[in-house]
Amino acid sequence: MPEHTVSADEIRADSTARSSTAQKCPFPGVTNVAVPVAEPVAESAAESAAVSDAESTATSEPAFDPPPADLTVHYDPLSFAIYDYPYDTFKRLRDAAPVYYNADRDLYIVSRYDDVRAGLANHEQLVNGLGNDMDGTHASFGEGMLVSQDGARHTALRQAVRRTFAAREILAREDGLREFTRSLLADLHASGGGDFASGFALPMSIGMGISLLGSPAEDNAVIVDHLWRSMERTVGEFGVPADAAAANQETEELLAERFATRRAEIDAGADTSGSDAYTQILIAQQKGKVKASEMDGLAHLVLSAASDAPAALLTNLVYILDKFPRLQGYLRQRPDLIKQFVEETLRYETPGQNLCRQATEQIEIAGVTIPADSRVMFLQGSANRDERVYPDPDTFDLSREFTPKNRVMTFGEGVHACMGAPYARLAAKVMVEELLLGPDIRIVGSPERWIKQMVRGFSMLPVRFVVPGASVGHARFSLHAAHAEHAEHDEHAQHAQHAEHDEHDEHDGPDA
Ligand code: HEM
Repeated sequence: MPEHTVSADEIRADSTARSSTAQKCPFPGVTNVAVPVAEPVAESAAESAAVSDAESTATSEPAFDPPPADLTVHYDPLSFAIYDYPYDTFKRLRDAAPVYYNADRDLYIVSRYDDVRAGLANHEQLVNGLGNDMDGTHASFGEGMLVSQDGARHTALRQAVRRTFAAREILAREDGLREFTRSLLADLHASGGGDFASGFALPMSIGMGISLLGSPAEDNAVIVDHLWRSMERTVGEFGVPADAAAANQETEELLAERFATRRAEIDAGADTSGSDAYTQILIAQQKGKVKASEMDGLAHLVLSAASDAPAALLTNLVYILDKFPRLQGYLRQRPDLIKQFVEETLRYETPGQNLCRQATEQIEIAGVTIPADSRVMFLQGSANRDERVYPDPDTFDLSREFTPKNRVMTFGEGVHACMGAPYARLAAKVMVEELLLGPDIRIVGSPERWIKQMVRGFSMLPVRFVVPGASVGHARFSLHAAHAEHAEHDEHAQHAQHAEHDEHDEHDGPDA
């Protein structure tokens, strides 16, 4: 099929427009897989300006003026340094360049809370039609991927799985979550510790996803493997490596098999009253609300939404428990604060750091004009640290008040807001409650972060269980430099808030 481009209007009118054959992906470096057709993104500022100038001559639209460069701040979401400690840069962005233009990535980056929140809610001018990732991850998913849809198609697909996410259904899962948590923790306890990412966070979050879908437990291991591969990225580069795209396609093949099995069961008279996503999607398809071609992609989205960000959150909770070790004893005495601990972790170490949108027309944010067809990134990780909304935002503060006006941007805003937020919060609470029934958990090696730019969390998190309050001493190696630099500041903040627990300093590893 020949390549062609679509206008912003076409994206808005039918964001489901997809080619079934391979197209050139609009995201440089993305593997050659079926993608929605769109204009190629300019490779450089010069090219971008040239294209823009040529277009403006042809259409008499105002020439594209990039925002004035502030040379005191540079932000590249694909920079390795940023993965480690982005928060000082985020502050510089909020103060000096609240809408920052990265010419090399041809990307507008929005960093203040109010602008992030308003932008995510503006689904008329800022659409999801090209996915919500900067690197074209959506392109390796099938047709029904919810987060790449807008308008009526999005509403229909979201409606199809609404019951799966209903509050009552999620609450009913607590016992199952607890049982699974205990079995995974028992294995880690039996060996005194291990890698918390592969030993707990990944199987736990995939377990959450497959139980929502209605998949058999045996799918967990194979989907963990797929997730592992699908998260792989090349530092500094756009795009989804070939094996990551292949892993996504393999997941959809597995999901297609599971749909076939469930359909055969239903045809043979099986009960269809369950809220599992397979049944709900099959029913919606029979009613003509979901197309057959959308089923695998929709199920895949439910599964993948329950994978990387929740796994990152579970590792981030452990990271905070280790960073402020006395919190473990404190929360044992005050289990009523565990929900608040989870909420503050969702703010302080936002597991999904950013979301992208496509501008359908010229818009203005924070006084900066963003031309039509621009890629715009909203930094939830920065919004959640915005001092305009959260006093003393770099302090981990268990007494922080969250209201509808300052709710965390972690789960998005507007029509695409996360359907699984209650499930994620519940799983996090259960995990922390169960962890605190045992010994203290401490990080003992060098953790490794996921390198997918959207996700903030750990792909490897070596932990050891120790007697409550005990030091991990020399078993503990140096963590990332930024952790060490910022630990001191944060320890002071913690001590100020929990002075009554300040009997001695147990943070005595070489990095303290
Ligand atoms: C810490 C964990 C999680 C985080 C940080 C998170 C974050 C998000 C965000 C930011 C969005 C909005 C995407 C956009 O606006 O483009 C979203 C959408 C979604 N999330 Fe989550 N999520 C989490 C856990 C879960 C879980 C456990 C599920 C359960 C399967 C889930 C299901 C979904 C679904 C189905 C959507 C699509 C909504 C739509 O496009 O209409 N999420 N999530």
